[in-house]
Amino acid sequence: MGWNVVDPAPSTDTAGTAEAYWDPLWRADRRYRRFDEEEAKHLRHHAGPGRGRPALDIGCGEGALVQHLHGLGFQAVGVDCAPAALATGQLCYPHLDLRRMDFEHDDLTLLPHTAYALVTCRLVYQWIPDKPAFLARVRQLLPPGGLFWVGTSVHDQTRGAAQAWELEAADAELLTTGWSRVDTMTAGNYRCFALRP
Ligand SMILES: C[S@@+](CC[C@H](N)C(=O)[O-])C[C@H]1O[C@@H](n2cnc3c(N)ncnc32)[C@H](O)[C@@H]1O
Repeated sequence: MGWNVVDPAPSTDTAGTAEAYWDPLWRADRRYRRFDEEEAKHLRHHAGPGRGRPALDIGCGEGALVQHLHGLGFQAVGVDCAPAALATGQLCYPHLDLRRMDFEHDDLTLLPHTAYALVTCRLVYQWIPDKPAFLARVRQLLPPGGLFWVGTSVHDQTRGAAQAWELEAADAELLTTGWSRVDTMTAGNYRCFALRP
């Protein structure tokens, strides 16, 4: 199926909670760009084998990426604010650690580890209202040598106005600033960033 965007969702209503926005979309059977073999190959290349190291997927939805990380040998946990997505994930992958958490606001000490060798975040960052605060929370969890993997559509400025699900260039710059190393994978307007503290 590859790289087709399924979801033309509008941006998050900043007056509401993330759960109030996302849970109804999952209940209405909205689905999103699949994690495919090409992305998996690049993630494997950057993250290496899990070897029991902790990994965290922020905004895990139904848990497909958490399952992939588990398969790579990571001790993987997924968090999401949407109970409907987690309910499906827990049915499909009963062996996985999938938890309800609003990553922007909830207490990070509720997570099972204080540091993660790998933090992933697919199709989430572009909808986060306060991106600097979000990035600061991610950095709290990443030790030196860790990896932050972000997947997002990025707005191509030659193609008119940005779509609601596309990251603006300024936000992409914010995302990629202040890391010791930044690698990028591009597939159309979908991009994955491998960011190292
Ligand atoms: C477009 S979906 C992507 C789901 C999954 N990452 C994937 O690649 O298919 C965005 C997900 O991020 C979750 N999300 C958004 N804001 C969040 C927050 N503040 N805390 C936790 N999860 C959040 C939503 O509930 C939703 O499941």
